[in-house]
Amino acid sequence: MFRFIILSVLIASAVAVCPDVTTKPDFDLGQYVGDWYEIQRIDTVFQSDSFCVRARYEALNEPGTFSIFNSATKPDGEFITITGTGYQTNTSAPASLTIQFPGQPMGSYLVLDTDYTTYTTVYSCDVILGITVEQGWLLSRTKTLSEDVIKMAMENFVKFGVDTNQFNQYYQGDDCNYDFPEASIKK
Ligand SMILES: *[C@@H]1O[C@H](CO)[C@@H](O)[C@H](O)[C@H]1NC(C)=O
Repeated sequence: MFRFIILSVLIASAVAVCPDVTTKPDFDLGQYVGDWYEIQRIDTVFQSDSFCVRARYEALNEPGTFSIFNSATKPDGEFITITGTGYQTNTSAPASLTIQFPGQPMGSYLVLDTDYTTYTTVYSCDVILGITVEQGWLLSRTKTLSEDVIKMAMENFVKFGVDTNQFNQYYQGDDCNYDFPEASIKK
């Protein structure tokens, strides 16, 4: 019996559900699009060890949709890009976005908070094949953010119980290449 209880507890924590988070209420996609530089992220198997990460969002003609162009540099210096599409799918939660990359399942992209001009905090939690995949990003309009702003922004995760120890910071700076593979650097 005791063993059974321990096992149940282990299973319960392994299949932990995604936390309930609230997104920015009056979110304006028009102000949100543009370039965002990644300052910190929760690593996943989909995005490991890459640095110089930039997300470029552009509004598409269809209201509530935007294109995604992400670029990054892998540890071996390889320049990688991925393009996708984002959608506003819930009219009562405009900052609750859905993103789609070719050959991958739809993912959630929840803007917890942003001031549009400095930072954005994005959270994503999806159950894929029975496994909870939690992702989080602190993105910035500039390649660096002051420690004060980072601390303030990370509170957006803390308040929903997201463990911020999961976040890592990777290199970002003026010698990063975001557009041209020829200019890749090694770090
Ligand atoms: C849409 O957003 C509202 C407000 O956050 C939420 O209560 C509702 O469950 C959402 N609907 C769907 C289909 O996710």
